[in-house]
Amino acid sequence: MLKNKKIVYFCQECGYESAKWMGQCPGCRAWNTFVEETVSAKKTTSSNTGKAPEKRQEPVILKEISLSEEERQTTKIGELDRVLGGGIVPGSLVLVGGDPGIGKSTLLLQVCRNLAELGVSVLYISGEESLRQIKLRANRIGTFNEKLMLLCETNLEAIREVIERKKPEIVVIDSIQTMFHEDISSAPGSVSQVRESTNVLMQIAKGMGISIFIVGHVTKEGNVAGPRVLEHMVDTVLYFEGDRHAAYRILRAVKNRFGSTNEIGVFEMRSTGLEEVKNASEFMLNGKPSDTSGSIVACSMEGTRPILVEIQALVCQSNFGIPRRTAVGTDFNRVNLLMAVLEKKVGIHLASCDAYVNIAGGMKMTEPAIDLGISLAVVSSCKDIVIPDSVMAFGEIGLSGEVRAVSMAGQRVAEARKLGFQTVILPEVCRASLGKVQGIDLVYVNWIQDAISYIMKQ
Ligand code: TYD
Ligand code: MG
Repeated sequence: MLKNKKIVYFCQECGYESAKWMGQCPGCRAWNTFVEETVSAKKTTSSNTGKAPEKRQEPVILKEISLSEEERQTTKIGELDRVLGGGIVPGSLVLVGGDPGIGKSTLLLQVCRNLAELGVSVLYISGEESLRQIKLRANRIGTFNEKLMLLCETNLEAIREVIERKKPEIVVIDSIQTMFHEDISSAPGSVSQVRESTNVLMQIAKGMGISIFIVGHVTKEGNVAGPRVLEHMVDTVLYFEGDRHAAYRILRAVKNRFGSTNEIGVFEMRSTGLEEVKNASEFMLNGKPSDTSGSIVACSMEGTRPILVEIQALVCQSNFGIPRRTAVGTDFNRVNLLMAVLEKKVGIHLASCDAYVNIAGGMKMTEPAIDLGISLAVVSSCKDIVIPDSVMAFGEIGLSGEVRAVSMAGQRVAEARKLGFQTVILPEVCRASLGKVQGIDLVYVNWIQDAISYIMKQ
């Protein structure tokens, strides 16, 4: 065994490091996620990577730091610029995560094309696809000029050498899970490889002032595969989400050192690449029937991300003794419970009715905050009341029919406002934290009956 190598165990979910193998990770409580990896014992922190130790830094007085207005590079894709906080900051590290096939490579190739057109030299490094495959994709997107260079490489030292020689202004790494560092013996995609690779890229970015986009794959749980540390190391984390079968894609910043994290960008996948959707609210409501009963928009937080969805319900008289109930995209038992509450506490006769509840667009949501939406959709269908398109509702419903508090009400309201809604029905308990919000009407309700009487008045 080499002297300067040691064996450690890493949790592949969260990056927890341990000297011994463990069945359950103390960090994230996941089972059976520890994998043996060999790491070199010598430190790989930036203070030890080639810099002379005598070159000490002196502290500077904050007041004396001059800030020349930070120049941001526009990507000419408005939706992306907005999510980035106004464009690409020089020397920043941007992580783009998302499911396979969602369009990460397509988006970044389009960014490369736009930047090359603006005269910025761009290097696209792919560890997943051959040059021919990239060319085929590029042909669908449009014409490219000579400012864009391609490289198929997975060895980070070779990549560093190319970057130092070619001095591009923007670099794209597709994807971090395919990259490897020679000093580390574990397989590409493992925790220590991903961490070390990101570390090297960060040194390149900060040292040479190059902006680097890193593509990261996503696990079943929706996190960037590999360690969470990856998210801590980069400046900006963007997630690409959406149903693969539907055309729309949402790009969302979950972390941004240079801008707000509440921005979303909406894109549509066409045969010629991703097209920006300028008016997100119109697009999200696209296909939502207006002037029909049994439909309302609700809001669910997915992790830190608020997502608006249309909830549809169809209630009709049952022809059999036992009514038929189905729930697509949400919890079947929860739907039954809510219908029981409506029956008992509001006095709507549903016991002899079939009910079908559907979350439109193929999204799956189980957060209790959509309870109010489901209940209102059921009432709307049952009583044949049309709920206006501009109304959104969220709130958990308790067994007494009370509308209970949900977390992050402010973010949900902000999301509704951003997507162009005019009215939000929400729990009374949120009044203390929200009060009045400019540009949107907030209807606070204590009981499910209050919400129902509000929609009946419309
Ligand atoms: P891709 O960018 O390869 O996804 P990722 O890098 O996130 O894995 O996207 C591939 C999908 O997008 C694939 O299913 C084909 C589709 N697509 C289009 O519909 N139109 C296009 O112009 C392009 C380039 C891809
Ligand atoms: Mg790809």
